[in-house]
Amino acid sequence: MQDQEIQKRRTFGIISHPDAGKTTLTEKLLLFGGAIQTAGAVKSNKITKAATSDFMEIEKQRGISVATSVMGFEYKGYKVNILDTPGHKDFAEDTFRTLTAVDSVILVIDCVKGVEEQTRKLMEVCRMRNTPVIIFINKMDREGQDPYDLLDEVEKELKLHTRPLTWPIGIGASFQGVYNLFEKRLLLFSNTKTKKADDIVTISDLSDKELDQRIGEKAANQLREDAELIEGVFEPFDEDLYKEGYLAPVFFGSAVNNFGVQELLDTFVRIAPAPRKRVAESREVMPDEKTFSGFIFKIHANLDPNHRDRIAFCRVVSGTFERNTFYYHTRQDKKLRFANPNMFMANEKSVVDEAFPGDVVGLYDTGNFKIGDTLTEGEKLQFQGIPSFSPEIFKELINKDPFKAKQLEKGIRQLTDEGVAQLFMQEQGSVKIIGTVGELQFEVIQFRLLQEYGAACSFHPVGYSKACWITSEDKVALANFIRMKSRYICYDKEDRPVFMADTIRNLKSVQDYYPAISFHFTSEFKTDQAEIAAAAYGR
Ligand code: G4P
Repeated sequence: MQDQEIQKRRTFGIISHPDAGKTTLTEKLLLFGGAIQTAGAVKSNKITKAATSDFMEIEKQRGISVATSVMGFEYKGYKVNILDTPGHKDFAEDTFRTLTAVDSVILVIDCVKGVEEQTRKLMEVCRMRNTPVIIFINKMDREGQDPYDLLDEVEKELKLHTRPLTWPIGIGASFQGVYNLFEKRLLLFSNTKTKKADDIVTISDLSDKELDQRIGEKAANQLREDAELIEGVFEPFDEDLYKEGYLAPVFFGSAVNNFGVQELLDTFVRIAPAPRKRVAESREVMPDEKTFSGFIFKIHANLDPNHRDRIAFCRVVSGTFERNTFYYHTRQDKKLRFANPNMFMANEKSVVDEAFPGDVVGLYDTGNFKIGDTLTEGEKLQFQGIPSFSPEIFKELINKDPFKAKQLEKGIRQLTDEGVAQLFMQEQGSVKIIGTVGELQFEVIQFRLLQEYGAACSFHPVGYSKACWITSEDKVALANFIRMKSRYICYDKEDRPVFMADTIRNLKSVQDYYPAISFHFTSEFKTDQAEIAAAAYGR
């Protein structure tokens, strides 16, 4: 029973550079799954470019992203869970963390723009974990780049091998559709946004004259040539290589016209991996283990300031999660019970009694959780792979109301537990430095501290550009380093020492000068070393 439930689940994320068509594709997938009835039901999760400093826009955004955090639907006997990844670059870290909870991704690329910056960054994260990737080349109704050039760019820039499973016939104004090289059928494109089914013709042999009748002799000959070339140039499609994250199958289409989306979805449910094992500090955890385990990858605060509770999103890794059962919170070493766990179907949420590996349950939280926390039935596990990355912008938090120091302290701790930003402390915590990946977070923090905690604050720029967690096998060397560089040393919330570099150039010279010190750009490195580091400084 549990095994059946695992095998039918497909938990994935859609990633793209903003504007490539992620929201549109999500919506079309939900339409196929019958999870929504009309186009436009999934609100764009973009923050309007013009409104980046509009607080209400931020709040609206938060509201929308709760609703679209997880979108589940049933399709052809599969249970598909789409985990939403914010497109805005200032929320990149949120996206990175969500990618720890998926088993595969669909990468959307705009055929006009090709590989863009966010795509590159997100793919780096996928590569770190060998996440299987399916590529959807979107907007084929526009005058885009040549498909060979596009795939070449993808291979080079994203360091990924590709294999087209469909191939476009023309592009832009001359786009006539795609040929499915595997299913041997032709999908004809007609520019109507309301149509659900595509015009599909089975043409198992490309030399069939019907092809010429359907798309014209010139295009038919071009397709014959292309099909031959593809066989010669690209590796054959191999499901295992895809599952290892080495080879990405490619589909071409137009999301807004709902074209090529069903081809994508049908192949996706067939080949995408079912819930996979996860690595914990002590061992690997298999989905089919009998006992429940899961981890928190996202925390969302309640929009209503009168209710301070939050929703912690827990990805089920193994066993069965059951409502009203006590589970062990391994970091806090205590048992918690959840009376109203939520599951999400499209943009509806409802209370669930049980959930299986691959599912995401929303747990009401009154401040117990932080990102990366693990729940089990009693085993002391800690899932890995949810690191904090070195932020890029650093500012000192200034308290503007001395009577609200406690509220500010509590607020900033809770917000950083949620993963809005990272907190680094100097001088026994009296100096608090907030690190983020985008400017927008500072506005979010300032606004939320005031709204939710009644604490007024401002920010003072500090001249750091990188934070590196530092460790060393050599305790004395580490202690000396910390002493020598005390002006640049902070501690994170776990009390681990962090070196704040003012420029990348200086960082390089410091690294060269202190070869015994290891500089880590993510917070996740061997914990015993972190302990050594902390011990070395007598903490
Ligand atoms: P994102 O979530 O990746 O940021 O992108 P989103 O789906 O919001 O799409 C960005 C824009 O691209 C939208 O236009 C959308 O309609 C358009 N789009 C998506 N797929 C296609 C496609 O296949 N062909 C063409 N030509 N356009 C496509 P917009 O003008 O920004 O918004 P809207 O007013 O159309 O909603």
